[in-house]
Amino acid sequence: MFQSARFSLIELDTDRLLESLASEVRAGLTAIPKRIPCRFFYDEVGSQIFEEICELPEYYLTRAESEILRDHAEDVARRYSLPILLVELGSGSSTKTRLLIEALLREHGALSYVPVDISPSALEASALQLLDDYKRLEVRAIAGEYQDGLRRIRRDTQRPKLILWLGSSIGNLDRQSTERFVSNLRGGMNLQDRLLLGIDLRKDREMLESAYDDSSGVTARFNRNLLERINRELGGQFDSETFDFHAAYDEVGGRVVSHLRSRREQTVRIEDLDLDVEFAASETIHTENAFKYSPTEIDALARCTGFALEEHWLDTQNRYSVNLFAPISPIGAPISPG
Ligand code: AVJ
Repeated sequence: MFQSARFSLIELDTDRLLESLASEVRAGLTAIPKRIPCRFFYDEVGSQIFEEICELPEYYLTRAESEILRDHAEDVARRYSLPILLVELGSGSSTKTRLLIEALLREHGALSYVPVDISPSALEASALQLLDDYKRLEVRAIAGEYQDGLRRIRRDTQRPKLILWLGSSIGNLDRQSTERFVSNLRGGMNLQDRLLLGIDLRKDREMLESAYDDSSGVTARFNRNLLERINRELGGQFDSETFDFHAAYDEVGGRVVSHLRSRREQTVRIEDLDLDVEFAASETIHTENAFKYSPTEIDALARCTGFALEEHWLDTQNRYSVNLFAPISPIGAPISPG
């Protein structure tokens, strides 16, 4: 791996992820109802398709978040008086992150960016581009799972941190796991640190369902890629075209639920698992939950995880939110950043 004075990449046990595809597919396709965890969407093909989703007219989330960051990045940067550590969970293509990087560089002249992502190749590609574009930036990339990456950062630094978790990735966790995860984040933060969370809002069914089941079928392709990935990596024999895609808003639960549905009765062999998976006609595989929040729920999330909701910014059409969570001290008084 390429290293330099301004770049390093640490790989934390990424092999474990491949093993987990095999065991999660076995567990998920022998369960009732069948399921495949959504984190397996993002192989090279899937990450590419996700980029296409972000450009869809129906998928408002990416544009709304960019709009908010464009309007408020400066405000975030001004809260810190010294060069900080900008940590990003699941960095993706890091286009939106650039808005913050630029604001922080303008404010402090220097910046360390620490993207944490499971894909070392994606990390390296985006880091090289950033280093080329910003001469006062250093990148300390960590390839691994969020929790492992965060433990590493906690051990390595005393500098003030801004932790980014953008794109409404938080929506993939159920509400209880979200609370647990955000509490864990809080445990690794000092009082001057901040957490910046992109969270999609509850809204009317029509806008949500078309965002998650677009008219040009890109999201359907994104979901079918799960089956094709099983074919590529585990010797599966899925004909992905025999599965329809469906996304529905569960308004009470506040989540968009996605499924693949077998058009007919069929048995699919997965060679590397020595497994034959039987499908009844119309049987489904659950592929994703995308949880949505009301402003009240966001405030409650902050409070019950040891934070105050310091800022809650919306796009001009009130579809999406970017939230600044500030740790509260044990006695409950918010403390201003250093
Ligand atoms: C990457 C999890 C934020 O839930 O909006 C997009 C994934 N799935 N279209 C989302 C996704 C279908 C996306 N996240």
